[in-house]
Amino acid sequence: QPVRLADYRPFPFAIETTRLVFDLHPTATKVTAELAIRRVGDATEPLVLDGERLKLLSIAIDGQALGANQFVVDAEHLTIAEVPDRFVLTTEVEIDPSSNKALTGLYMSGGRFCTQCEAEGFRTITYFPDRPDVLSRYTVRIEADRKFPHLLSNGNPGAFGQVGETRHFLEWTDPFPKPCYLFALVAGDLDVLADKFITMSGREVALRILVDPGQASRAAYALDSLKRAMKWDEDTFGREYDLDLFAIVAVRDFNFGAMENKGLNIFNSALLLADPETATDLDYERIEAVVAHEYFHNWTGNRITCRDWFQLCLKEGFTVFRDQSFSADQRGAAVQRIKDVRALRARQFAEDAGPLAHPVRPSSYLKIDNFYTATIYEKGAEIIRMLKTILGDAAFRKGSDLYFDRHDGQATTVEAFIACFAEASGRDLTAFFDWYEQAGTPSVTIDTDYDAAAKALTLTLTQSTAPTPGQPNKKPLPIPVAIGLLSAEGEVLRDTEIVLLDQARQTVRWEGVTSAPVLSALRGFSAPVNLTTDARASDRYVLFAADPDLFNRWEAGQTLARDLILARAAGTPDEVGEERYADALGRALVDDAAEPAFKALLLALPSEPDLALMSDPADPAALHEARDTLRTRIAVHLGDLLRRLHGEMQSEGEFSASAEAAGRRALRNACIEILAADPRDDNLMRIVGHFEASRNMTDMIGALYPLVSIGGVAREKALANFHFAWRAEPLVLDKWFAVQGRDPNEDALERVIALTSYPDFEPTNPNRLRALVATFANFNPARFHDPSGAGYRFLADQILAVDAFNPTTAARLVDPLGGWRRYKPELGQQMREQLERIKAHPGLSRNVLELVAKALDQD
Ligand code: ARG
Ligand code: ZN
Repeated sequence: QPVRLADYRPFPFAIETTRLVFDLHPTATKVTAELAIRRVGDATEPLVLDGERLKLLSIAIDGQALGANQFVVDAEHLTIAEVPDRFVLTTEVEIDPSSNKALTGLYMSGGRFCTQCEAEGFRTITYFPDRPDVLSRYTVRIEADRKFPHLLSNGNPGAFGQVGETRHFLEWTDPFPKPCYLFALVAGDLDVLADKFITMSGREVALRILVDPGQASRAAYALDSLKRAMKWDEDTFGREYDLDLFAIVAVRDFNFGAMENKGLNIFNSALLLADPETATDLDYERIEAVVAHEYFHNWTGNRITCRDWFQLCLKEGFTVFRDQSFSADQRGAAVQRIKDVRALRARQFAEDAGPLAHPVRPSSYLKIDNFYTATIYEKGAEIIRMLKTILGDAAFRKGSDLYFDRHDGQATTVEAFIACFAEASGRDLTAFFDWYEQAGTPSVTIDTDYDAAAKALTLTLTQSTAPTPGQPNKKPLPIPVAIGLLSAEGEVLRDTEIVLLDQARQTVRWEGVTSAPVLSALRGFSAPVNLTTDARASDRYVLFAADPDLFNRWEAGQTLARDLILARAAGTPDEVGEERYADALGRALVDDAAEPAFKALLLALPSEPDLALMSDPADPAALHEARDTLRTRIAVHLGDLLRRLHGEMQSEGEFSASAEAAGRRALRNACIEILAADPRDDNLMRIVGHFEASRNMTDMIGALYPLVSIGGVAREKALANFHFAWRAEPLVLDKWFAVQGRDPNEDALERVIALTSYPDFEPTNPNRLRALVATFANFNPARFHDPSGAGYRFLADQILAVDAFNPTTAARLVDPLGGWRRYKPELGQQMREQLERIKAHPGLSRNVLELVAKALDQD
């Protein structure tokens, strides 16, 4: 019984105002809802409200209690067949937050009440039309014991006071109509970090970050990021904040990263709390990006929301694009782009190549929670980036201004969004819209033909997209391909030009090309496609050394490394090529013009999951072995240089979280990660020394993984010391679990299984669960794909155990099994067996069922 886009119908009633009264008790919370309802649809329509796991205590219309024959309650709905055209519906329900381990709706985390409503959690709080196109003005009264001192909801605070001896209350009013998925409530003991922001029109906004008692100083970086994000959105998109208060609360138990509830964002503490001792540079980077992301949702998501959940990319794709642009401005465009593309390929390209491939705007679903995917987020952002590339900066901004202006206060669609850009630019974007409806990653090829006599270059571009489930035939898409030319000596022959490839095959002829060119195509990764060119290895070395487009410089190095690893995994190693690659890498590392952060990216070899995606069928053990061999050859070949760089990049003095300082740390860590492949005494001592001398978590983790990978005593000592030092810090202990999830040694699976019965392993906490289980299954292919199938059985056991209490998080663990068809048959067969075992499990959630069934069905 899937939900279909084609079946969309507006809700026949408007909920003009919503008053909620919460009488909070951990095991029995009473929620009274007073909804001012007006009929807007057909007079024959009954009122059907969503509601699940609610105990209905009373129900009345305009103060008159309803008789038992006047309404029907089933497991998912409250139906009232006959209602007036205008009325107030009052319901009173009881819920039990303390037993809610699904972490959607109202639940307890760390002794505090908190909520997560997107997408469909509000229906477990009260009876309501739980759909994004029903906007209402909320007032909320929260009453609780005084041992929950902070009482928070959306909007601006109002009346407060005592209730009897032990309880107190506070009222909140949110002046902006909103869908119920943006509702939030928090109650508990919290420390506050406070600041303010003056908006571009001169309004003062109080900023508050609320965290576990004693942790306020760890919110400083998030607060700083927030202020930068607020300013950036004014400067870049002309968007100003609209309430008197902007609050963020951090909670330890959270299914996702964070949530953009109006005026009251709720964050997974892993994406909010940071200090140099406990957080890595990657944590800082993610905190900055996610704080910005959730803040940016205030316009792209909250002021303008989605008509239905099929339009999810309307808010998510655009908001990811906005946060990526912010990060690029804060930290450097090239490095940011490389990281974003790495993540896109690892997650979204994999998804698009497998049984769960779906369009950025899907047309049907079973559980919307399963559609918070890399495709909707990351590919959704790529579409906006292409739109900007095609239209140019000025027309893009004109289009976004029009969108904000025209649709403010509405729940709208992707069509309406694209129409604003078409109108503002005067361009026909009909074909562009296909990007939203067609799944799969296009393959683009470029062939070059240079006519030396005519000094002309002919480029032949083609595109095709392989069938995906439910979409056997694909259309050509409009693909912006950024192309420049270099000479064989690495000089610029021709600057970047955008070629719009919108046919299956197209040719372009460029005159005045004075010498045989080296093609630099898809610069900056101008479109989310797989590119094949007729470039030879020698061309790639030219780009690797000299491409002014840093993305393509990095890409050339990655492609060279990838081909070498794949050749070795296939049993045809190219030793001369490996030497040549190591030499070129060495030269790139001593280029004074390049930043350390960029060099760190050059040093990172293609990951094993990425390599698996490039081979057919994938043999994880062979890929692991081949990649490790190349790493060892680099470690031996460039040993002196890597040791020297490791020394030079050491920063003295106070810790700085700046991108520049983080880049130096990243390069140092990249050096020892390679050196660990050649663990001779001096290298081992260097890594141990790095670990012991580290005064920040980036350096410490940077050495911990290499030590774990070396195995033996080095591993045992480092892990024991680390655990002893950090046993009381949950966020750091997560890292201790994660590093063991990635352990490449032969006994890793046994150890990971043993860790699940370790007292610190709490499967009800998604961070802890993912740190061990998801890290192992996603980032340790050599051990996960154990030939015995024990890795698959382990994952299936975990999925079933978690599904019993938290289906959303269980469903997110299915992915590593989903690609079973891409693996060697001996492995793929065993992966499939585990999917079948999960599917047959009695009482399986719809969340897990949908994914498992799709993974098995495709043929
Ligand atoms: N809207 C949130 C964000 O992207 C994520 C909510 C995730 N919810 C879900 N049901 N998967 O910032
Ligand atoms: Zn988002």
